[in-house]
Amino acid sequence: MSLLTNKEVEMDLKGRDFLALVDYAPEEIKYLIDLAVELKKKQKAGEIHHPLKGKTLGMIFEKSSTRTRISFEVGMYQLGGQGLFLSRNDLQLGRGETIWDTAKTLSRYLDGIMIRTFAHRNVIDLARGATVPVINGLTDLSHPCQAMADYMTVLEHKGKLEGLKISFIGDGNNMAHSLMMGAAKLGMHFSIAAPEGYDPDPEVVQLSRENAELTGGSVKICRDPREAAENADILYTDVWASMGFETEQEARMRAFNGYQVNEELAKYAKPDYLFMHCLPAHRGEEVSESVIDGKHSVIYDEAENRLHAQKAIMAAIM
Ligand code: CP
Ligand code: NVA
Repeated sequence: MSLLTNKEVEMDLKGRDFLALVDYAPEEIKYLIDLAVELKKKQKAGEIHHPLKGKTLGMIFEKSSTRTRISFEVGMYQLGGQGLFLSRNDLQLGRGETIWDTAKTLSRYLDGIMIRTFAHRNVIDLARGATVPVINGLTDLSHPCQAMADYMTVLEHKGKLEGLKISFIGDGNNMAHSLMMGAAKLGMHFSIAAPEGYDPDPEVVQLSRENAELTGGSVKICRDPREAAENADILYTDVWASMGFETEQEARMRAFNGYQVNEELAKYAKPDYLFMHCLPAHRGEEVSESVIDGKHSVIYDEAENRLHAQKAIMAAIM
């Protein structure tokens, strides 16, 4: 008897890497979100579901993490397998062993590898060497697992995705990139307001726009947060200094002055807007306390959905 549910055999994604949303077709992304919703229901109902029985996911971390680490580890456990925490400094990788040799060696033991690292190149190189699926758990360029959990959260709260407007206020960073590409794939309207010097990567913008053309979505780049927030269904922000950019904190505080998501800015959004943030957050910097802890905020739903969204990804590709 198959260990998989009907939903899990509907689309064959087995063996695929999950490195960036650009690599996935709109139907595949929607399928993974639907599967996440189904797995969430199962877990809430207390159903045991072990499609990854006996399998191990290695989790390489070169940066800190609360949500990613715990949701992947718990997710593997709930799917019948196990997650193995591997910090860079405990691996020979930290002493100069190549990514290639690490990828080849780990593939002999593991059934999947998740990596959180700095340069996106590292993830690509790891995937190139690995013979098991590789999952991007955040790079300086993107954070696709978070975007999957976020769009699952929007679907739960709004009942749909297509046609909705998501406005990102702040740094054109990894989070902005993955949300932008996700919106483009899902037929949503994405706008971002970032100060000069902190715009999103032009290549990601162009690729997102090309994808949006196929789905009826759109991507708009603004300077003025009010213009970006106009009529938004979702207001999203993230820290002004991401991991790896801590030394720029002071300069960034000055540059992002005026880019806080607060009650004043929220007046430009729809009355029933959702406030979203991938966390960790800095209250009083990129978002006011009243907004992040207010009635529009769904930040803990997003955090919870990391578990369900990643379970869907792992069940599908591993
Ligand atoms: N949102 C997110 O990725 O959180 P962690 O850095 O805690 O994993
Ligand atoms: N942009 C943030 C996201 C953290 C989950 C960072 O990279 O630090």
